[in-house]
Amino acid sequence: MITIPDLTQAITILSRGGLVAFPTETVYGLGADANNEDAIRKIFLAKERPYDHPLIVHIGDITQLSAWASDIPPIAQKLAETFWPGPLTLILKKQPHVLDIVTGGQQTVGVRMPHHPIALALLKAYGKGIVAPSANKFTHISPTTAQAVEEELGKKVDLILDGGPCEVGLESTIVDVSDKTPAILRPGMISAEKIANVLRMPITTRFSSQIKTPGMHHLHYAPRTRTELITQENLSSFLQTLTQQDLPIACVIRKIKPIQIQGVTWIPMPHDVHAYAHDLYQILRHVDHQQFKRIMIEDVPEDSAWEAVRDRIKKASHD
Ligand code: TXA
Ligand code: MG
Repeated sequence: MITIPDLTQAITILSRGGLVAFPTETVYGLGADANNEDAIRKIFLAKERPYDHPLIVHIGDITQLSAWASDIPPIAQKLAETFWPGPLTLILKKQPHVLDIVTGGQQTVGVRMPHHPIALALLKAYGKGIVAPSANKFTHISPTTAQAVEEELGKKVDLILDGGPCEVGLESTIVDVSDKTPAILRPGMISAEKIANVLRMPITTRFSSQIKTPGMHHLHYAPRTRTELITQENLSSFLQTLTQQDLPIACVIRKIKPIQIQGVTWIPMPHDVHAYAHDLYQILRHVDHQQFKRIMIEDVPEDSAWEAVRDRIKKASHD
């Protein structure tokens, strides 16, 4: 339970240039005042994140969008009105005052209004924008609980607001609407299909681009244990090639039926995509803490609803 004194303390810390980790519906964010360059530098130091990876400005009200973005096209307005508060980040042309440390020196800024009572209460009470990357070390798995934030950043955060496990469990969908043709830069649980339906136009996913797109670093969102993807079809040949040196091994499965094999731990995942997304990071984090030599993750369906999960398990895998 977050109390009013916690929020008051959070606001004091932010005003003085400190860092506050807070829950959102996607993952926990590491927050700093979006206008305070010194405070924002602490985020990069705490995360050990390169400065050319821009940050998302979080706002508590849709009317604050124009304080950060300029030339907002009707499609951006439409997406904000449809999906905010919610797990969607819009990339737009920035207002001149937006700091280079926020945008990575680019002319665009990412903005999002999260859907979480604590995040919204904090943002509304603070009244100003809060930049918040996921509250993990660079390239690690994003935290979906307050304990995971503590584990990742410990004393580098002045305060962690505990809101329990995050509902969505994967980072927001990022849509670039700064140009004539909108494009998805990072898939999330608001799928391309849902966005295309609202905009009544096709939308492409742009993975490779000159700008620093999310998670393009190889081994982004990755456990430290060697992680690979496996399909139901190649399971038996895979099991035959296993040697004593590969064991113990964890198999994160969905459709595959577990078979009793010495040294193989089977971890069944939900069949439903929302439940799967909700659990994924927590399970990978848990498995990563144990002494497995390898983690295998069973592939997921090819359809649009699974795109975000597919993207994250690919990024988690080392091959
Ligand atoms: O769900 C989320 O989006 C979470 C929660 C805390 O809100 N935040 C999050 O932030 O995932 P972060 O920093 O871990 O990932 C944001 C990604 C970065 O990889 C960055 O490259 C991209 O957003 N990004 C931010 N501003 C951008 C811009 N102007 N152009 C292109 N990409 C941008
Ligand atoms: Mg991140």
